Amino acid sequence: MITIDRLIGEFDRALRAVAGIAHASRPSPGNEMEENPLGDEERAHAAALMRVNHVGEVCAQALYQGQALTARDESSRKALEEAAREEEDHLAWSAERIAELGGRPSLLNPLWYAGSFALGAAAGVLGDKWNFAFLAETEHQVEEHLTGHLEALPPADRRTRAVVEAMRADEAKHRATALALGAAELPEPVRRAMRLASKVMTTVAYRI
Ligand SMILES: [Fe+2]
Ligand SMILES: [Fe+2]
Repeated sequence: MITIDRLIGEFDRALRAVAGIAHASRPSPGNEMEENPLGDEERAHAAALMRVNHVGEVCAQALYQGQALTARDESSRKALEEAAREEEDHLAWSAERIAELGGRPSLLNPLWYAGSFALGAAAGVLGDKWNFAFLAETEHQVEEHLTGHLEALPPADRRTRAVVEAMRADEAKHRATALALGAAELPEPVRRAMRLASKVMTTVAYRI
């Protein structure tokens, strides 16, 4: 059952996600790497890629929140909450790295958040099987996308790369969790539509 306390808690999370205030429970993997000198262009490129990832993590917050609100059984909710905590680490790590690179988060974060929350809630209405299917496919696409970023990031930017690599490992785990919870397989047209939506989001977020 959704209690008032819980709703207030979720609303607080929403505000923090949109404002970019996140508390990491694990230190950023980037901290273990030294800061190599980067050219201006490389630095700006890395910051823009991390802005895209940060938007992805804002969306992940919205998605997992929507999921946790609608997930029916207790053990599913526990697994989702654990993944959500890791997503919060990602949110904090990417925000931290953007700042280190001298960039700024997306100005459209409230919009990204609202869109994802609506999608997550819509998937939630369809029941756990489709809820988790949507989640598994999202995590899968994020994983692929992060692999692309590892190819695009300056090789010398080891701090950013360490963050992206750790995020990618977590996303693979989240996908496995969603599958273990009984995710159905999404029809191909839905997967295509999701790819298209994420293409729009990543293209816009790289700039704004
Ligand atoms: Fe993430
Ligand atoms: Fe994830």
